[in-house]
Amino acid sequence: MNVKLQAIFARRSVRRFLDCPVEESHERDLLEAAMAAPSACGKDPWRFFVVRSKPSLKEIAAALPNGGFLAEAPLGLMVCGDLEHAHAGELSYLLQDCSAAIENILLAAAMLGLGACWLGVHPREDRVDFMRRFFQLPDSVVPVGAIAIGWPVETPAPRTRFNPDFVHRHH
Ligand SMILES: Cc1cc2nc3c(=O)[nH]c(=O)nc-3n(C[C@H](O)[C@H](O)[C@H](O)COP(=O)(O)O)c2cc1C
Repeated sequence: MNVKLQAIFARRSVRRFLDCPVEESHERDLLEAAMAAPSACGKDPWRFFVVRSKPSLKEIAAALPNGGFLAEAPLGLMVCGDLEHAHAGELSYLLQDCSAAIENILLAAAMLGLGACWLGVHPREDRVDFMRRFFQLPDSVVPVGAIAIGWPVETPAPRTRFNPDFVHRHH
């Protein structure tokens, strides 16, 4: 691992959080990082919902089979994309753009000492339908992924998952 890339390798999924709020200035930092991600043709189709209310976090967590721990997080972000603003109106571009934004949020959280975990929503129909209802989304807005964020109880070790078998050289 190159130490200059420490910030990348130190980003690990954190699923247990201290009972302690995340400051609004950090919320702003995370959203600025998200919106610094690359997006196809610079269309920035991403839209973000910030969730801090405990009852709401619990309700969303209950709709995510692998995301029950969102109920214990002080901050949740729901990342959606608006098809009307995606490059060529294409869902694939929207998903790629929003995924880049989510990864930036995860990297920024780790750099700030916060813990975070990506919670899959798209393409699971039941989860997408729940988010559409919960956030009262117009048809053009597609829920992509949720993120649980908080101060970490655990700090998993930085690691590389480099596998030379996944690399092919074209001559
Ligand atoms: C699209 C996507 C969906 C994910 N959904 C969940 C999830 O629902 N629950 C969860 O605990 N982790 C989820 N993760 C996190 C992965 O399990 C985790 O990134 C992976 O095991 C690698 O571990 P690391 O993040 O610590 O490097 C998701 C990750 C991605 C990219």
